[in-house]
Amino acid sequence: MNTVENIKDLREQVKSWRMQGLSIAFVPTMGNLHAGHLALVEAAHRYADKVIVSIFVNPMQFGLSEDIDNYPRTLAQDKASLTEVDTDLLFTPTADIIYPKGFGENSYVEVPNISDLYCGASRPGHFRGVATVVCKLFNLVQPDVACFGSKDYQQLQVIKTMVEDLSMPVEIVPVEIIRESSGLAMSSRNGYLTANELAIAPALYKSLQWLSTELCASHQPRDYAALVMQTSEKIEKAGLKTDYINLCHATTLAPAEPGDKEIVILAAAYLGKARLIDNLPVSL
Ligand code: PAF
Repeated sequence: MNTVENIKDLREQVKSWRMQGLSIAFVPTMGNLHAGHLALVEAAHRYADKVIVSIFVNPMQFGLSEDIDNYPRTLAQDKASLTEVDTDLLFTPTADIIYPKGFGENSYVEVPNISDLYCGASRPGHFRGVATVVCKLFNLVQPDVACFGSKDYQQLQVIKTMVEDLSMPVEIVPVEIIRESSGLAMSSRNGYLTANELAIAPALYKSLQWLSTELCASHQPRDYAALVMQTSEKIEKAGLKTDYINLCHATTLAPAEPGDKEIVILAAAYLGKARLIDNLPVSL
């Protein structure tokens, strides 16, 4: 696997593949790769001739109170994992390359409304940072297809909306959540959990499964607010602190209305040093 750090080398490789008529799939990441990321690369191979992965811990999507300096960086291990799944090119730019003027000074991409809800409300400016860096990376890599994990369900909808609104010529492919055998969704942030917290964390997904079963159990209209409250109580009883739980329309993420058929349960909860997110789509 070839690794490039600068834009010129990236563009030369992309141009050479384009001149050979090859298609390109892209997997943007922040590194500290786990099986969920590798599943994205494996999916990407099914969509294009060449797969480019980026590793860039994007300062613009971290809030002032969020500790970007302690975000896990494991480049040597990541390179070994990416080689195992036949990645064709790894792009590892520095912040100076992505934001030469400093990220407070550059143009940005804002996807309105959907970016302000849920994780966007808990992490103001987060989705502006995500949309801006993903737009920039798309402009650099110019992929035909880009793969994103469904664990970050809201991020996926923000990116799909950006691509549609701005007519970006890239197909967005969502890839299923990869879970530990305990049910815990794989995430780089699970590395912050102690052994004791790792035993508690699966309660988040179990609570979402309980809510999904309740929602599907009856064809009668359900009291969404009461069910959400009960789910939150389950999460808190297990030892996590609920940030939010919401029943949402599966694509707009607006609060689910009685009569919506495709909905998604979105949730975030704090546990020790970690903020865990999870979701569960439900067809009613
Ligand atoms: O999901 C992530 O790892 C990041 O938000 C992304 C999409 C790579 C943008 O920095």
